[in-house]
Amino acid sequence: MITNEQFQKTYEESIKDPEKFWEQVAREEISWFKKWDKVFNWDFPNYQWFLGGKLNITFNCLDRHITAGKGDKAALTYLNEKYERITITYKELLLQVNKFANGLKSLGVKKGDKVVLYMPLVIEQAVAMLACARIGAVHSVVFAGFSANALRERIEDCQAKIVVTANWTLRRGTKKELKSTVDEAVKGLEFVENVIVLSRGSSSRSERMTLSGDKETDYHQLIQNQSDICEPEPMESEDALFVLYTSGSTGKPKGIVHTVGGYSVYTHYTTKKVFDIQDGDVYWCTADFGWITGHSYVLYGPLSNGLTSLMVEGTPDYPTPDHWYKIIEQEKVNIFYTSPTALRMLRKYGEEYPKKHNFESLRILGTVGEPINPEVWLWYKKNIGGDKLPIEDTWWQTETAGHMIVALPGLTQKPGKAGKPFYGIEADVVDEKGQSIPANEKGFLIIKKPWPSALRDCLNNHERFEKYWTEIKGVYFTGDFAIKDEDGDIQVLGRSDDVMNISGHRIGSAEVENALVSHPAVSESAVIGKPDEIKGERIKAFVVLKPEYSPSDDLIKDIKSHIKREIASMAVPDEIEFVASLPKTRSGKIMRRVLKARELGQSEGDLSVLDQ
Ligand code: WT7
Repeated sequence: MITNEQFQKTYEESIKDPEKFWEQVAREEISWFKKWDKVFNWDFPNYQWFLGGKLNITFNCLDRHITAGKGDKAALTYLNEKYERITITYKELLLQVNKFANGLKSLGVKKGDKVVLYMPLVIEQAVAMLACARIGAVHSVVFAGFSANALRERIEDCQAKIVVTANWTLRRGTKKELKSTVDEAVKGLEFVENVIVLSRGSSSRSERMTLSGDKETDYHQLIQNQSDICEPEPMESEDALFVLYTSGSTGKPKGIVHTVGGYSVYTHYTTKKVFDIQDGDVYWCTADFGWITGHSYVLYGPLSNGLTSLMVEGTPDYPTPDHWYKIIEQEKVNIFYTSPTALRMLRKYGEEYPKKHNFESLRILGTVGEPINPEVWLWYKKNIGGDKLPIEDTWWQTETAGHMIVALPGLTQKPGKAGKPFYGIEADVVDEKGQSIPANEKGFLIIKKPWPSALRDCLNNHERFEKYWTEIKGVYFTGDFAIKDEDGDIQVLGRSDDVMNISGHRIGSAEVENALVSHPAVSESAVIGKPDEIKGERIKAFVVLKPEYSPSDDLIKDIKSHIKREIASMAVPDEIEFVASLPKTRSGKIMRRVLKARELGQSEGDLSVLDQ
C-alpha cells in the first residue's frame, strides 16, 4: 500500500526521466544475460527499449525462482467445473516446458517461427506458450471460441509453421470439439508443417485420440522421450515474443507484435505494483490465454513475480452460481482479478451467494476489459471486498500489453474511474487536434510517449502500426473516449471508433458486417453496439436483403449461424432488423453513428453529410 504523497513523488520522478526510471526497474527486477547498451530509442514512429540487451522471459518466469530455492512452490493451479484440480510447481513446470521446447525443436521449429495455439485453458497451453518463448519461437494464441474461418485467417496471416490444439474444451458441462475445427482451418495450407494434438482425459494410451496423417503429432508422444534440459535462447530485447490478433475498425484483425525486453519489464512491474504482491500470494485472474489479459496477467506477469497463478476453465456460474466464490474460499485466493461482465453476472444472482462464503484471504480486487458501472463497483467492494479492499480498475489494451491507468492500492479510488496513469506513463484527454481539454469534458484518451511494452508493429502491416501514432500526430491514439476530473482521475467511457466491446472482448463493426454480406441473402449491412445489462454491449445488425429474399425467422436463424461459422458465437448479433436502406453519406459510406443515435433515441448530430 502506498500513500497519495508517495505515489505522487515517484510518479513525478518517473515522468521527469522515464528512461532512468525504467532502467532502474529493468536492472532491479529482471535478470539479463547481457545488459543493454541503450535504454530507449525513438525514431518516430518506431521505438525500441533496452537495445542490445539479452534475456529470456522464461528464465525470469522459471529458472530464477528455482535457483532462489522456490522450485517446490506451486506455479500454476488448474481447476474446472468438476472441481478437478491439478497443480504444478515451478520445478515441474520448467521440466515440462523444456521437454515441449525440445519437442518443438525436433519438429524443426526455430527462433522466429510462428506457432499458433488453439487450446483450452489448461496447463499444457501454458507449457506450450513458455516453450515457444524458451526457444524464441513466436506464439500466437487464438481464443478457442473462434470459428475455423477466423482461425484460418490468423494462421494464414502469420504463416504458422505449427498449430497446437486439444481434442476438446469444457464449458457448461459440454465438451466442445477443437481438433475438427483445426482440421478445417488448416486444410490445404501447405506451410503448416505439423498439428500437435493434446488428448485430454486420457492418461491411458488406449483412450487417446487416433491421429491421422503424417502432419499430426500427439502432444504426449512428442514430449515422451525429450530431454528435460533446454537452455533458454538468449533473445535480443527487441526480438518478437508473441503476436496477438485483435479487432480494429477495419474488417481484418490486426496482429499486434510484442517484444521480449520491454514486455518482460513492464508486465513484471505492473503485476508487482498494481496487486501489491507479497511472497506466498495465491493470485487468480479469471482471463483466458486467448486474450492479452491471459498473456500478461495469468502467465507472464504472475510467474515472473513467483506467484501461484490460478487458471479456471469454465464460466463463473456453472455448475452453481457460487462456483467462483467456492474457489476463492477453497484456494485461499489473495488477489482476485476479473471483468465487469463477470461481476454483473454474479451480481444478478443476488447477495445471498457471496454471503455464504469466507473471503478472508482476499487482499486486493481488480477489474479489466470494459468500463465498470459505479453500482457494480460498489457491489464488488461490498460483497466481495467486505467494504474495505482496494479495487484496481485497470485500463489498458492488447496494444499496451500492461496496465496503463489505475489507482494503485492505497490511493483514493472512485467508483467507475480507472484513476491515474501508471509510473512512467503520461496520459491526457484531448480534442481531435491533440489539444488538452478542460477537466470534466469528454475527449480522446492519448498517451504521450512510448512505454516499454507498447506494441512494436502490426504484423505484415506497418502502416497500420504507424496510424496509432499519427491519428493525432506524435502521440499514441487509444481509440477510447475519456473524461479527466479536477483531481486528474480518468474515467474511460468506451471506444471512439467503430469497435464494439462485447463482454470485454473487442469486435469490429466492419468485421461483423463483412461476415453478414458474405451470406447469400444479404446485400448490405450496418452493425452497432447497444448497451446491455450483462455484456456491457450487445450487437444489433441492420440488414438490407437482396431483392429475391424476404425476411423470415428462419432467415434470421440462418444468418446468425453464418456469423458463428465466419467469426465466433460472441460475434453473433442479438438483434437483426431488416431494413429497406441504410443511411449513407453522399460518397456512399454507411453512417453507423446515425443508426445508433436513432436506435438509442439520441440526437442524430450533424446530418449535413447524410444523403437524404
Ligand atoms: C479496450 C481494449 C485490457 C485487456 C482486456 C481488453 C476497454 C479495457 C478497461 C477499463 C474501461 C476498458 C477499452 C480498451 N477497456 N479495460 N478498465 N475501463 N474500458 O483488451 O481487447 O485490447 O480491449 O477495452 O475500450 O480500448 P482489448
